[in-house]
Amino acid sequence: MTEVKREVFGQMSQEEGGGVVEKFILKSDSVKVEILSLGCIISALEMKGRDGEFSDVVLGFDTLEGYMRKHPFFGAVVGRVANRIAKGRFIVDGKEYQLFLNNGPNSLHGGARGFDKVLWSPQVLPNGICFFRLSPDGEEGYPGDLKVWVTYMLTGGELAINYRAQTSKATPISLTNHAYFNLAGQGSRDIYDHEISIEADSYLPVDDTKIPTGEVAAVQGTGFDLRQPVLLGKHLQKFRLDGFDHNFCLQQAEARRLVARAHHPPTGRTMEVHSTQPGIQFYTGNNLDGSLKGKGAVTYPRHSAFCLETQNWPDAVNKPHFPNTILRPDEEYNHTTWLVFSAA
Ligand SMILES: *[C@@H]1O[C@H](CO)[C@@H](O)[C@H](O)[C@H]1NC(C)=O
Repeated sequence: MTEVKREVFGQMSQEEGGGVVEKFILKSDSVKVEILSLGCIISALEMKGRDGEFSDVVLGFDTLEGYMRKHPFFGAVVGRVANRIAKGRFIVDGKEYQLFLNNGPNSLHGGARGFDKVLWSPQVLPNGICFFRLSPDGEEGYPGDLKVWVTYMLTGGELAINYRAQTSKATPISLTNHAYFNLAGQGSRDIYDHEISIEADSYLPVDDTKIPTGEVAAVQGTGFDLRQPVLLGKHLQKFRLDGFDHNFCLQQAEARRLVARAHHPPTGRTMEVHSTQPGIQFYTGNNLDGSLKGKGAVTYPRHSAFCLETQNWPDAVNKPHFPNTILRPDEEYNHTTWLVFSAA
């Protein structure tokens, strides 16, 4: 049985839109997750360790003010298109569209005011919460009225996140959740003692603005081969990597399958990621710099968290050989990612 409670988290100022932000608390025997109606943000996720102790394993803020200031998408649903679109430009059915550029020469995570920064309409379900939003035609430069539903369902140690959407005009779409995890507990200094594995035979090399070059490179014999678990700190050293911020190419099947796993031997905590999505961005918090004051007044230095963002491949809208990312009016976008938490 999952218990679902709601409470007021904060009030946005007039300049911010003036709405009330609610917090929904989903609680099972082994997991308690808190989700905001602002950006569908996972603001806390407590899970058990081997010793039975609960710890909050996601980065975030104690108050709404934290989330209203600039931060790197902590816990949020990002869209209309997660990740980068080269020069914020693309062509659909012969018509060119220009998005707002918010990441050097590129568009990142939906633009200036993406899905992470807006209020969603909540509907409480027996074991979870569904958020709805209409993204209007032309929002951030994207075509078509897009109806979006994001549903979080908690069953025991499994959190399912389902993304559904319908559009009035052909549009690119790729939705993900951008939670930052540290299975030692949020506020722990680094993630070097985590074991990571990703079920990918290939990955996407990027240029110096982080746009995929177009090559789909084999992981075999490189630091990107994470098919067997690696201890992250040692692995980064061994391959002289500054960290990961790359898309790993998953098996092209729309069925649920295990795509990644993170394990923290000292506490026994494990998170498995299962998904229907074609890609997963593995990010090791390379841009965290200790300047943000997080929950419980901790700071978040470089490499103090990781993200495993299931999504379509970056810049797929400009790369015909990448998986299709265009949603058409007679179709429905429907993807699910399952986060499975356990301790042993
Ligand atoms: C979404 O896809 C899943 C299969 O991954 C299916 O079980 C579910 O019924 C679909 N949802 C809708 C509303 O079509």
